[in-house]
Amino acid sequence: MLLTKVVALSLSFASVWAAPSPPPQSSEVLEVENAFTASKTAPKFKSLKASAAIEVYWHVVSKNSSVAGGNILDSQIAAQITILNEAYSTTGLSFSLAGVDRVVNATWFNKVTDGTREQTEMKRALRKGGAYDLNVYSSGFVEDPRRLLGYATWPWDYAANPQNDGVVIHSGTVPGGDNAPYNLGHTLTHEAGHWVGLLHTFQGGCNGAGDQVADTPPEARPAFGCEVGRDTCTADRLPDPVHNFMDYSDDSCMTEFTAGQAARLTAAIATYRTQ
Ligand SMILES: *[C@@H]1O[C@H](CO)[C@@H](O)[C@H](O)[C@H]1NC(C)=O
Ligand SMILES: *[C@@H]1O[C@H](CO)[C@@H](O)[C@H](O)[C@H]1NC(C)=O
Ligand SMILES: [Zn+2]
Repeated sequence: MLLTKVVALSLSFASVWAAPSPPPQSSEVLEVENAFTASKTAPKFKSLKASAAIEVYWHVVSKNSSVAGGNILDSQIAAQITILNEAYSTTGLSFSLAGVDRVVNATWFNKVTDGTREQTEMKRALRKGGAYDLNVYSSGFVEDPRRLLGYATWPWDYAANPQNDGVVIHSGTVPGGDNAPYNLGHTLTHEAGHWVGLLHTFQGGCNGAGDQVADTPPEARPAFGCEVGRDTCTADRLPDPVHNFMDYSDDSCMTEFTAGQAARLTAAIATYRTQ
């Protein structure tokens, strides 16, 4: 999730197959949490259901004009928005597709990843809307050796760098994509979770405040596949939250956000992503 100091707070992996990312530096997490706690704004609405849907601007970046080259179908994007809304239905948050644009640019498809010049150029050319609008870029990460599925920016980083705000996902992760077992659409569910301020369920391991949400049991490390019943932090006598969207399980294993996560994302939106 967090790599180096500079990109640390704006980068998160949905999953990496080969090498799970190093754990975040807890001092940075603490810094963010202190700022969040200090500036926390009371949500304008009791429930996010009373507020408008997040508008999604989808930017399809492809290598060529075929689906295999990343030019995913409108029907896949529509199915992805449906999946996103189902996943967030218990949180009060909803999403509506505001627009799709398409660009064939093999350089971007191959090279765009966190921190590259190509990413900056892509976002400068394509980004739309404000803090309450979700920009999704689907691309190839071809030259990224981590086999990245996606990454996101945090809500508390919006003000300093609005142009960088948004989520970049592998185009094969959308419903019907070629990135099995991560092709049912929950890479975007997970990355959108970071975009509204949720941390990984394995944040901080077994100790401390973990993901800063009280009702997600702590876990020592990411779960992969579907390790039902796993318990890597035994003190709490609760199994690891392997079904949680903010873990690293396969898409088919991911089924839930908790009430605590819903409360956290509601507060993060009210604080950093007002309409
Ligand atoms: C587009 O790119 C894909 C993926 O590399 C490749 O399999 C396909 O042959 C390409 N199609 C065209 C029309 O160039
Ligand atoms: C493709 O990407 C390159 C590198 O960022 C950029 O210079 C170029 O303008 C882009 N082309 C199009 C058509 O977007
Ligand atoms: Zn993540």
